[in-house]
Amino acid sequence: MENDEESLLHEKPEQGNLFELEFNEYTPSGLGTAHLSGFAIASDEMEYAVKGVEGSTSIPVQNPGQVPAAEWFCTKLAELCGIATPVCKVLKCISDGEYVFGSRIEFSAWKSGLNEAQWLNILFNASDSLKKQMWAIYAFDQFVHNIDRHLNNYLYMENSRGQVIVKTFDFSLSSFVIGWPRSTAITLPTDSSTCINWSVAKQFIGDAPELRVVAINILDKIERIDVRTISDILAAMPEQWMPPMHREYLLKWWDSRDRILRLEAIKAEISS
Ligand SMILES: Nc1ncnc2c1ncn2[C@@H]1O[C@H](COP(=O)(O)OP(=O)(O)O)[C@@H](O)[C@H]1O
Ligand SMILES: [Mg+2]
Repeated sequence: MENDEESLLHEKPEQGNLFELEFNEYTPSGLGTAHLSGFAIASDEMEYAVKGVEGSTSIPVQNPGQVPAAEWFCTKLAELCGIATPVCKVLKCISDGEYVFGSRIEFSAWKSGLNEAQWLNILFNASDSLKKQMWAIYAFDQFVHNIDRHLNNYLYMENSRGQVIVKTFDFSLSSFVIGWPRSTAITLPTDSSTCINWSVAKQFIGDAPELRVVAINILDKIERIDVRTISDILAAMPEQWMPPMHREYLLKWWDSRDRILRLEAIKAEISS
């Protein structure tokens, strides 16, 4: 077991050292947001919102340097569960050699943030697609302990039927950053942005059995993901993003009964 875990931790990153995506410099965001370092054009000529290990956080957290790790892990996990997210990449800054998390810019997403009235209007007119997405994201956020799903932490876009749909992004105040899975409660604090936002959203989109099922399905999928898959996700991110101790702890936890108990508790919350 020891040896297996050792070898699981030393696999080559997704893009290896041969074909790294690089960028020269980034434009500071100017958005005044909490964790975003800025925007960069990488060697694939695509534009990315980038976050590094040096970024600051809006509130005191256990592991502020693990923002890129949390973003990488949660984005990859969400993708595996069939939740729509922007493409993400590990990007290397040529000038200082630092690796940052890059979220590929969705040009079809609305650029300006929503105000509350616009948000309520979207909820009021929500299609079944959007309702299902919102429930799926809520279940996922509960699992990774994302405390910050406010109305502008969804990327909004329109499908060809004129319906508003979303992609999920911004996991900077989730998982490893706040000490998950060791130091977090099973369900999210009721005064978190995620819960406050959700209590409003739920009133509009409803809690029909078929929506709760969507949420439960996400948790079932998470339950079926094995530790090797998680190990691959961790192995694809740079060493500097997360200490070996924390990686090992996560893999042990993933393989433990505690993860199943957490999933069961969240399912109970979702079904209540
Ligand atoms: N993949 C993306 N596509 C389009 N816009 C993005 C993307 N990633 C980030 N942004 C923009 O950058 C802003 C800040 O990114 P976010 O990840 O929310 O950082 P923070 O943790 O600082 O809030 C977002 O509100 C959004 O406007
Ligand atoms: Mg944000």
